[in-house]
Amino acid sequence: MPGSNFGTLFHISTFGESHGPALGVVIDGCPAGLALTEEDIIPYMNRRRPGQSQYTTARSESDTPEILSGTFNGVTTGAPIAILIRNTDQRSKDYSEIADIFRPGHADFTFFEKYGIRDYRGGGRSSARETAARVAAGAVAAKLLREFNIEAIAFTKSISDITVDDKFLDPMENRVRRDDVLKSPVFMPDSAAGERACAFLDKKREELDSTGGVVRIHVTGLPAGLGDTVFEKLDARLAGALMSIGAVKGVTIGDGFSVSLSTGSLDNDSFYADDDLNIHTTSNHGGGILGGMSTGCMIIAEAAFKPTPSIAKEQETVDKAGISRKISIKGRHDPTVVPRAVVVCECMVNLVIADALLTNATARLDNLHKIYRR
Ligand SMILES: Cc1cc2nc3c(=O)[nH]c(=O)nc-3n(C[C@H](O)[C@H](O)[C@H](O)COP(=O)(O)O)c2cc1C
Repeated sequence: MPGSNFGTLFHISTFGESHGPALGVVIDGCPAGLALTEEDIIPYMNRRRPGQSQYTTARSESDTPEILSGTFNGVTTGAPIAILIRNTDQRSKDYSEIADIFRPGHADFTFFEKYGIRDYRGGGRSSARETAARVAAGAVAAKLLREFNIEAIAFTKSISDITVDDKFLDPMENRVRRDDVLKSPVFMPDSAAGERACAFLDKKREELDSTGGVVRIHVTGLPAGLGDTVFEKLDARLAGALMSIGAVKGVTIGDGFSVSLSTGSLDNDSFYADDDLNIHTTSNHGGGILGGMSTGCMIIAEAAFKPTPSIAKEQETVDKAGISRKISIKGRHDPTVVPRAVVVCECMVNLVIADALLTNATARLDNLHKIYRR
């Protein structure tokens, strides 16, 4: 089954199923000398972990990461870093009723058509449980980025049509505080919008239904010129990274689809030079990326999530034999996947930026001179 590798120089390979004994990731290419222990990874795992609030599934995994290789005395050695996350709450029996039925909106049908084998226990590799491995890797990437004061912060921009106040969406300056995001049960920095979103989610749960939303990611501290050309543009890499997360149906950078309604004179981000002749832009419609490379402005990306496919409301479907069936999905499912997906988005962005940072180091001869010229 191809598809579990990501990145070029900061390369990850993930493995494991939702209801197997464990899942994990091997990170290859993390430079030696980075201070790294499980304590750096645990806060990220906790943000993704089920059962964090009444709006996330009650499945209770401790999601404790174990670093199996690649560090010595709490510092990376340059060797592959293997991180294992054991599954402790599989409960396969919850899924036995749907073993032969294709859940609408889920990946059962396409996996079965492709492989002819279906791991019905929670969806196997199509289960969002695989995102635990991405988050572990993204936490390591975040630690690397912190060395250079680069930080990605993701938050819930909207749940259905309930959106955070415009002040949190300023494209020129990150006004989102991590503490405000983390104290919200739905990871919205705007507590008033968060309360409205929670009430809306309660209603969806009562209706046995689900809803979608948008996660927004701000990246600060980036120098200009990060990212590559043609197929490896930074915006293309970010779009692919975010789109690879289950339930994402749209990704935008900067002003996104609304650029189609703009004009050149409004959309162009004008340049100016400060007193020290450093070049900046007066606006940031481009979301911090121009020609596939960072401009030095804050990077802004958004990912739109569809409603959680598994709902308790009765739906029409068919089984493997093509016989019509009704399905009402029992068990532990969120009225929206958005809050748990916030840290997944942040970690995917961390991985893309860490990879771009390493790649960029070889872009100029003078960088190589700094390392090798004696
Ligand atoms: C963090 C996260 C949690 C998710 N939790 C659930 C869930 O509890 N139930 C469910 O049906 N889908 C859940 N999903 C979405 C499915 O994994 C996804 O919709 C499904 O695999 C089909 O893939 P697609 O929507 O990308 O086409 C979750 C997705 C993410 C990112």
